[in-house]
Amino acid sequence: MKQFDYLVLGSGLAGLFFALKVAPRGRVAIVTKKDRAESNTNYAQGGIASVTSKEDSFESHVRDTLTAGAGLCKQDVVRTIVEDGPARIAELIELGMKFSERDAPDEDGGKELDLGREGGHSKRRILHAKDVTGREIERALLNAAARQPNIQIFENHLAIDLITSQKLGHDGENRCLGAYVFDKNANRVWTFTAPVTILATGGCGKVYLYTTNPDIATGDGEAMAYRAGAAVANMEFVQFHPTCLYHPQAKSFLISEAVRGEGGVLKSLEGVEFMDACHPLKSLAPRDVVARAIDSEMKKSGAEHVWLDITHKPARFIIERFPNIYQTCLRYGIDITKEPIPVVPAAHYQCGGVVTNVDGETGIAGLYAVGEVACTGLHGANRLASNSLLEALVCAHRAAQRVTKNASPKTDLKIPLWQSGDASNPDEMVVVAHNWDEIRRLMWDYVGIVRTNKRLARAQKRIANLQEEIHDYYWNFIVTSDLLELRNIATVAELIVRCAQMRPESRGLHYNLDYPEANPEWSQRDTVLRKS
Ligand code: FAD
Ligand code: SIN
Repeated sequence: MKQFDYLVLGSGLAGLFFALKVAPRGRVAIVTKKDRAESNTNYAQGGIASVTSKEDSFESHVRDTLTAGAGLCKQDVVRTIVEDGPARIAELIELGMKFSERDAPDEDGGKELDLGREGGHSKRRILHAKDVTGREIERALLNAAARQPNIQIFENHLAIDLITSQKLGHDGENRCLGAYVFDKNANRVWTFTAPVTILATGGCGKVYLYTTNPDIATGDGEAMAYRAGAAVANMEFVQFHPTCLYHPQAKSFLISEAVRGEGGVLKSLEGVEFMDACHPLKSLAPRDVVARAIDSEMKKSGAEHVWLDITHKPARFIIERFPNIYQTCLRYGIDITKEPIPVVPAAHYQCGGVVTNVDGETGIAGLYAVGEVACTGLHGANRLASNSLLEALVCAHRAAQRVTKNASPKTDLKIPLWQSGDASNPDEMVVVAHNWDEIRRLMWDYVGIVRTNKRLARAQKRIANLQEEIHDYYWNFIVTSDLLELRNIATVAELIVRCAQMRPESRGLHYNLDYPEANPEWSQRDTVLRKS
């Protein structure tokens, strides 16, 4: 049993920023399932969207966010997050974050923050650290956390399930009391308790066969919250990033939208700039439009990828602005200053998640969700590029303020120790591996960029079968991280399919050939699921 004042699950931007904010008030445990920097945050390239220039305005950022969100954003949430942004960016800089700068136009020798551009933004407003923004965020925040004696980080610790009063059989308000956590090094399960638990576990890209996300992104937070009785919403809105590097040896390497922001152009294998016919913003159209256009281009021609071409820009500019993309592609034999980059769409971001308000509060007392795991209403049916780091930053701050205002009571409930199955049969691990592959492939084939009712029904049936099998394993066998994550991706796959089946229209990232148009009756409606 390990007791803390705050239990933070996840060490990406959301978890670290929250932990730093509350550390002066109590003991914080950060539980993270791999090494401390490993997170979606760590791979963020483009940057953080926020209004910092005189030529920009909150109105314009709000408008762009609402346009991308295709009618489903919550306007008050959008405004709050956009308007809180600059103050949080200033705090991030104070904590040690170094954004890229450029010479200020009207001051001798002065510098100002360099602003990038991405799809759907009508202004340059993306603060970035070259093309490794996330790595720089993790560096700065982990250094700051190391200076805080109240923060203890538990690496290679995987949260299995939340502990709630309801699960323990108590009537009345459902309250989160902590979590059971699998210690991968010691191969044992600990009970972590705290009056406040923060889910900052990120997204679920690994539910799909092809993704830009690292291996940690298995939707654990969404699955745990759903099992605990929290509401989960809008899971059908999975964002596919249009440009993931297509190369047999490259695993999940993103080619930032900022490359298109700086003039990169999408072309078919024959060299046709096919986005010209799809949208007035061409290659910089919103992500859902670009991903669907690439998907259609590849299906029409049978091509395995399309090209992203930035060779018309000076080589020095490309190498300085995109050093990581340049070097990584070069390692795979592609010199992006001289030849186009082969790209394909891949699952990238989960717009839905655990339902929260803008302060991270879920429907379970003492449980907060912040960052990609949460569904605040900022993104609606399609996230505007670089708004997710902004959301994580602002909502982590607001959740920290909220928990310090509303102190949660310490519990005197007796919490039982973890009970697990005791069978162990290494031969059977092949079944776990097979089920992983099957879920990821069927989600890619049946619940991808373009959906139909028939494919969704097929996916639903297969997932139900797989879940039965996983259920037996889960209760009989000694837990392993593969098994725990498999159980979670199966749950998240189920939630995505069920939400997709509930929405009889096409909107934003959810495109169903059986209902190719948006249905005005659904323009304000979320798809919400709660375990009965
Ligand atoms: P994460 O940063 O993903 O952190 C989740 C943490 O939870 C990790 O530490 C993980 O190990 C831990 N965890 C997960 N499950 C468990 C468990 N069961 N137990 C314990 N720990 C667990 N967004 C932008 O705004 N701008 C960008 O430029 C941008 N670029 C991106 C590029 C790539 C390649 C990717 C994949 C995403 C990008 N995004 C970008 C999205 C953005 O990075 C994420 O949405 C954001 O970083 C999420 O932050 P987070 O703190 O919520 O989660
Ligand atoms: C990118 O750099 O293209 C990713 C930006 C984002 O996902 O917001």
